[in-house]
Amino acid sequence: MIGIGIIGYGYWGPNLARCATEAGGCRVVSIADQSPAARARASVRYGSVDVVEDWKTLVADPRVDAVIIATPTRIHFDLALAALKAGKHVLVEKPMAATSREASILIEEAEKRGLILMVDHTFVYTGAVQKIKELVVAGVIGDCYYYDSTRINLGLFQRDVNVIWDLAVHDLAILDFALGISPIAVSATGAGHIKGSPENMAHITFYLDGGATAHLNVNWLAPVKIRRTLIGGSRRMIVYDDVEPSEKVKVYDRGVDHDGDVENSEQREDVYRMLLNYRMGDVWTPQLPVKEALLSEIEHFVECIGQRMSPLTSGASGLRVVTMLEAASQSLRQRGHPVELTGMRQAS
Ligand SMILES: NC(=O)c1ccc[n+]([C@@H]2O[C@H](COP(=O)([O-])OP(=O)(O)OC[C@H]3O[C@@H](n4cnc5c(N)ncnc54)[C@H](O)[C@@H]3O)[C@@H](O)[C@H]2O)c1
Repeated sequence: MIGIGIIGYGYWGPNLARCATEAGGCRVVSIADQSPAARARASVRYGSVDVVEDWKTLVADPRVDAVIIATPTRIHFDLALAALKAGKHVLVEKPMAATSREASILIEEAEKRGLILMVDHTFVYTGAVQKIKELVVAGVIGDCYYYDSTRINLGLFQRDVNVIWDLAVHDLAILDFALGISPIAVSATGAGHIKGSPENMAHITFYLDGGATAHLNVNWLAPVKIRRTLIGGSRRMIVYDDVEPSEKVKVYDRGVDHDGDVENSEQREDVYRMLLNYRMGDVWTPQLPVKEALLSEIEHFVECIGQRMSPLTSGASGLRVVTMLEAASQSLRQRGHPVELTGMRQAS
C-alpha cells in the first residue's frame, strides 16, 4: 500500500485527495497546507489523515512514499526537489515547473534516485483524448493539417502565471501526447487587461514539423465557456468539445481532395475547381469510457511506482510542455516574433 502525502489543499488539491482515497493500492496519510482555512476543510473531510501546516513535516513522514504537489507553480520545483531528495516518488501539478531548467533538474534527480516523477497533465487521462490518440495512431485522420483550440471562459485570474501557463498548458499536453508532433517554432500575442495581473488572453501559433500548425486561443476574460478543438486531417476531421456532457468527440468524414496537378498556375479557374473533390461523408461519435480522468491518473501513478514503469505523463513530457510554454511567453513579450524550438523532442 503506497502512502500518499498531498501538499496544497486549495482548489485542485481536494480533487486529488478524493481520487487518491478512491484509487486502489494507495492511501492518503498526510495533507499539508499553510492556510488554516484549507487545513480546516481537509480535517473535516479526512478525519483519520494527518493534516499539517509545514510541508517539510509531510515530506519527512516515513509513512509517505509518494508526494502529490498541488501548490502554485512558482514553488513546484522546491517542493518536488525536496521530496525527491527525501526518496519520495512525485506527482506534480501542471505546469511541472516555472522554467525548463528547473524541470530538467527534477528529471535528473528522479533518474539518479530511481524514483517515479509524473506530471498531472489531466487531459491525457480523459477518455476523449485517449480516443483521439487512438484515431491518430490508427491513421483515421490521415496526415494532420492543423490543431485549432479555443479554451476560454471567465476564469480564475492567477497571479504567478499568465493565461498561457494556466490554460494553453492543457493543449500542449494533448498535442504532445495525442499527436506526438514536435513544434519547430512559436509565435504568440496577448494582452493583460486587469492591473497587476499577468496576460489574461493570448493567441498562440505553433509551427509543427511536417507542415501542420497548432493554434490556441486562451482567455480568462470571456463571457462564455468554450473548450472546443478542431483537428483537421487529410482523411477525416475531429471536433472535440469538452463542454459537451457526452458525445465529446465527433469524427467527420469531410474534406477536400484534389486530383491532378492543381499547382499548375496556367490552369483555368473552372478546370482547377473541377479537380477539387469535396467529401461530405458520415459523422460518427465514438463511445468514450466514463471513468474520471484524475482517478485513472492516480491509479496509473500507483501502478508506475509498483512496476517501476515510466508514466504516460513523465517528467520528460512535463519538460517538453514547459519548454513550449517558455518559448510562447518569450514570443508574447516580443509581440509575436517567432521563437525557434527545433530539436525539442530529441533533447528531452
Ligand atoms: N490539472 C488540472 O486540471 C488543474 C486544475 C486546476 C489547478 N491545477 C494546478 O494545481 C496547482 C494548484 O492550483 P489551485 O488552483 O488549487 O491553487 P490554489 O491557490 O487554490 O491552492 C493552492 C494551495 O496551496 C497552498 N500552499 C501554497 N504554498 C504553500 C506552501 N509553501 N506549503 C503548503 N501549502 C501551500 C495554498 O495555501 C493553497 O491552499 C497549480 O499548479 C495549478 O496549475 C491543475
